[in-house]
Amino acid sequence: MSIFRDAGHLFRLAGVYLAGTLTFLVIRAAVVPHSFGQYGHYRGAAIAEIAAKPLHYAGHQTCEICHSDIARTKAAGMHAHVNCEACHGPLAKHAADPSIDPGKPDVATLCVRCHAASAARPKSFPQVDAEQHAGGVPCNTCHQPHNPAIAAAGGSK
Ligand code: HEC
Ligand code: HEC
Ligand code: HEC
Ligand code: HEC
Repeated sequence: MSIFRDAGHLFRLAGVYLAGTLTFLVIRAAVVPHSFGQYGHYRGAAIAEIAAKPLHYAGHQTCEICHSDIARTKAAGMHAHVNCEACHGPLAKHAADPSIDPGKPDVATLCVRCHAASAARPKSFPQVDAEQHAGGVPCNTCHQPHNPAIAAAGGSK
């Protein structure tokens, strides 16, 4: 027993440590969400919550079911790999109910988003100085958006 004679401070220290651990466990049980760690280092219930959110993009396969003519035009040109909603924006609502008019993209801001000359773009990517190239004439006067090599006037779609 003599070795514990002057050990009171050790027991107090152990008590403080134990109280700290208990406080940590109690707070953790109270604040960590129930499904945390169910699948990995995140809240398992988040998957169902995110899956329940409404869709905004329909995906080009859906557009192509109804607009097969445009899909064919597009597949034959340089925009083959630019998907519908990259230009038209998210249109899941229109795809689910075609009576909802999606409107048309604003050509004045659309084309330059990808084609305005910029040192940041790869040199091989087709780009133009819009002012010099078009001089204020709308891009789709000369380029059919779905197949930009086809002259817009005359050869629509
Ligand atoms: C269930 C069939 C259906 C699906 C799916 C669908 N559309 Fe449509 N869309 C229509 C119909 C019908 C119209 C109205 C008639 C028309 O202009 O051809 C229309 C009209 C449009 C218009 C407007 C035409 C205008 O003159 O204003 C655009 C743009 C359009 N769709 C784009 C899309 C895109 C992009 C998708 C995919 C996200 C899509 N649509 C999916 C049936 C569909
Ligand atoms: C590179 C951009 C771009 C892509 C990609 C694109 N569109 Fe368009 N689309 C346009 C523009 C711009 C217009 C409006 C043309 C105008 O105002 O005359 C348009 C018009 C339309 C219209 C109205 C009818 C017409 O021919 O003018 C429909 C429908 C349409 N797009 C559907 C689609 C579908 C479906 C896809 C995918 C298969 C698609 N678009 C891909 C830019 C694009
Ligand atoms: C989301 C980006 C995007 C938008 C918006 C876009 N394009 Fe394109 N465009 C591309 C890509 C990608 C290519 C193919 C480039 C390649 O394969 O080297 C291309 C190719 C082209 C080409 C072919 C160039 C050549 O060398 O033959 C023309 C012309 C063109 N686009 C015009 C337009 C016009 C006009 C609009 C607006 C109606 C437009 N683009 C909107 C991405 C875009
Ligand atoms: C007055 C008709 C006209 C208008 C308007 C026009 N283009 Fe063009 N564009 C052409 C012709 C013709 C070519 C092919 C010339 C060539 O290959 O050198 C071309 C080529 C291009 C190319 C390919 C350049 C390359 O280096 O391969 C792109 C990208 C392009 N245009 C984008 C646009 C955009 C974006 C607009 C709108 C700001 C626009 N064009 C407006 C007639 C026009």
